[in-house]
Formats: sequence, structure tokens, C-alpha cells
Amino acid sequence: MLPQEIIRLKRDGKPLSTVQINFFASGLVDGSFNDAQVGAMAMAIFQNGMATEEVIALTDNMMRSGDVLSWPELDGPVVDKHSTGGVGDKVSFMLAAIVASCGVYVPMISGRGLGHTGGTSDKLESITGVDIQPSVARFKQLVKENNMAIITQTDRLAPADKRLYSIRDVTATVESIPLITASILSKKLAAGLDSLVMDIKVGNGAMMSDLENAQALAKSIVSVANGAGVSTQAIITDMNQVLGFTAGNALEMVETADYLTGANRCPRLHGVTVELACAMLISAGVTQDKGSAEALVEKALSSGEAAERFNRMIAQLGGPADFIADPWKMMKKAKVVHEILAPVSGYVSKMDTRAIGMLVVAMKGGRTANGQQIDHSVGFDAILPIGTKVSEGDVVARCHANSAEEVKQVSQGYIDALTFADSAPEQTLIYQHIV
Ligand code: URA
Repeated sequence: MLPQEIIRLKRDGKPLSTVQINFFASGLVDGSFNDAQVGAMAMAIFQNGMATEEVIALTDNMMRSGDVLSWPELDGPVVDKHSTGGVGDKVSFMLAAIVASCGVYVPMISGRGLGHTGGTSDKLESITGVDIQPSVARFKQLVKENNMAIITQTDRLAPADKRLYSIRDVTATVESIPLITASILSKKLAAGLDSLVMDIKVGNGAMMSDLENAQALAKSIVSVANGAGVSTQAIITDMNQVLGFTAGNALEMVETADYLTGANRCPRLHGVTVELACAMLISAGVTQDKGSAEALVEKALSSGEAAERFNRMIAQLGGPADFIADPWKMMKKAKVVHEILAPVSGYVSKMDTRAIGMLVVAMKGGRTANGQQIDHSVGFDAILPIGTKVSEGDVVARCHANSAEEVKQVSQGYIDALTFADSAPEQTLIYQHIV
């Protein structure tokens, strides 16, 4: 078999056999497809798509290119959630803690920020001492002891995807539904899950900006993951504004603590968290119906159990023992905090969410190239949601930056990202469940 013959088939719109897909996936790891050939193959898939069976074969092979975990030692269901990413999306933290409090095991392997979107791994690393790269044996022990552990991807997880993704990134082939499906699922399924809930974000801060594409991605992921034997459903949720009151690594960790204690709980953030938590509890077989799932979520929060579990996880990963009580104790604060004021009276009617994510990146709260160090302290808090009525001069958000010059530029950028109107717009939080 020659790489160019397989590329030719896909270029001409022909389906590939499982053997041919195996050959491509092996070639990603052993180098028998060079970078030009991988790029050409990615473009052929981008242009001509793949049938579900082809995506299943690609996902399975990329998953098996590295470590694949299993959990025979656990006495309960192993469930995870994955989000396609957004701005201010810190749902993984509260969700894992809530679901773990209900007896489900959540081994979550998280990613770093990508473009304008934040990453769960980066947020955790805001806390001094936290090590999110434990050995596999230690990861397994943490999940067993506390029902949850959130760590970061290692080089041994789906290395075929790592190479393919880095080439897609520079060949304009990221936005391909078969390639996104195989990329996300090869990593998620390697965690050895019984079931998976996907949060497919849609809107101006998401990878998918319109509902049609979000539905197509959700359907693709659900059918491929179920085809690979992992019970999976997708929920399409809104990303037309920052999720929660904060965007920026350390600030999002503070919001997580405030959410878990109940000190400050953004209703939209809570709505998405409850929806996903109920889906995870039902798919895990903990309960059958949404009403009782909601009651379990409420109990996990009001009893303090979810907060306690999250606190324990931070301590187990090397952070402080009292993160929830004093989140700033081991996190760096930005030097300047500046109130951003409404330039006019009216309702906050639109947010350019991607632009706000890019402002965090501009302050070095995210990366513009692989491997860069980031500044965890910067970002925004006290963010007013869409639909809030303001008078001229009211605080619409606070900017945390490291210089007075930066604060001026970024605050203007934040104002430019908002639209004000005479009335509050209609809003949707949860668009659709796809099973
Ligand atoms: N996230 C991934 O892991 N892969 C993609 O292709 C897109 C988003």
C-alpha cells in the first residue's frame, strides 16, 4: 500500500476500507505518511467527508495509537463530559464534583486553551502546587479515592491525533466534522468510559457558530461514539456570551469556588451544569428521570459534598487543603483591576464572545503558539450577562491586567465587544438533546 494511492482514493471521493484507514493512522505515528501526505489526506477528507464507518475506524485507530485506560477496579459507572469549548466555560469543575458526589466515577482528561477558548488544564494550573500530570497509576488511585480527578492530556494519549491535529492546524483543515469527531473521540474514548455526554457549544464564541453545523457535529459524535461502544449523547448549549461571571484562568477558579459554596452562582452557568449533570446521572444509571436527577444535583450542592470533593481533589493534586475557603491563597492576582463602565444606558443585547476570549489571550491569559507560558492572573470578572439593564456609567465588567496601558486598551476592546439596545433580546440556553 502506498500513501499516495490512499490519498488519491479520498481525493476522488471514494470511501476508504478499514485496512486503508488503519494504514493511514499507523502512518501518522510511524512517519510512513510524511507531513505533506498527512496534509493532503486531511484536505481530501475535509473536501469529501467520510462515512460513519470510516470515522469509526479512524477514531478507533487513533485511540489505540497510545494508552487506553480501563477501570476494572471501580465498583460504579465511569462517565465523562466533553465540551467543544467556549469562553468562560468552567462547567467541568462543578459538574465533575456534583456527579462524583452522586457515586459516579469521573476520570477527566482535560485540554489546554485553543485559540480564543480557555482550557480546563490551564485553569487548574492557576493554583500554585497543582500538578495535573500525575502517572497513570496515581490518576487511577485519585479517581478511586475521590470519584473524580481532572488531569491534562499526556503525550501517550492518542499520539496519532496529536500529529494529525498539528498538521490540520496549519493546513486550514480544522473545521471538518469527520476530523473533529475522530480527534475529540480518540482522546475521550481512550479514558475507558462507560458513557459520555458531549456539550456542543453553538454561537459567536464557539467552534460551531450556527445551529445547523452544531447539529451535524453532535450527530456525528453521537453516532461514532455509540458505534465504538460508548453510550453517548450530545446537548447543544449556547455560547453567544461568556458563560458565567468570569473569563480568565484564576478568576474562573474563584468563580468555581463561589459556585460550589453557593456564594455567587450565575444562573446560566448553573442551568448548563444542571442539564449536563442530569444527563450524566441518567446515562450512568444512577436515576431514571430528570426530576430525581435534579434533586440529586441540588443535594450534592446544598450538602457541601460537591465543594468538599473538589477541595479534596485540589489538595490531592498538590494544591492547598483549603482552596474552597480561600481560593486566592495560592493564586497570583493581577496588578491592576479596572472597572469597565457602560458608555450608554440600555440593555446589554449582544456580546462578541470570541473577541472577549481574544482579549484574554491578548493579555497573555491564552496562547498564540504552542507551548507558551501564560499569565493566569488576567481576565474579566463581574461580567454582566446579556439582558441586563444598565445606566450609563454602571460597571459592565472588571478587567484584571498587569499594566495600566494594557487595562486601557483591553477595557476599550471589551466595550467594543458589547452592543446595547432599548430592549432585552430573547435568549436560549439549551437548544437540543441529540441521542
Ligand atoms: N478539539 C479537538 O480536540 N480536536 C478538534 O479537531 C477540534 C477541537
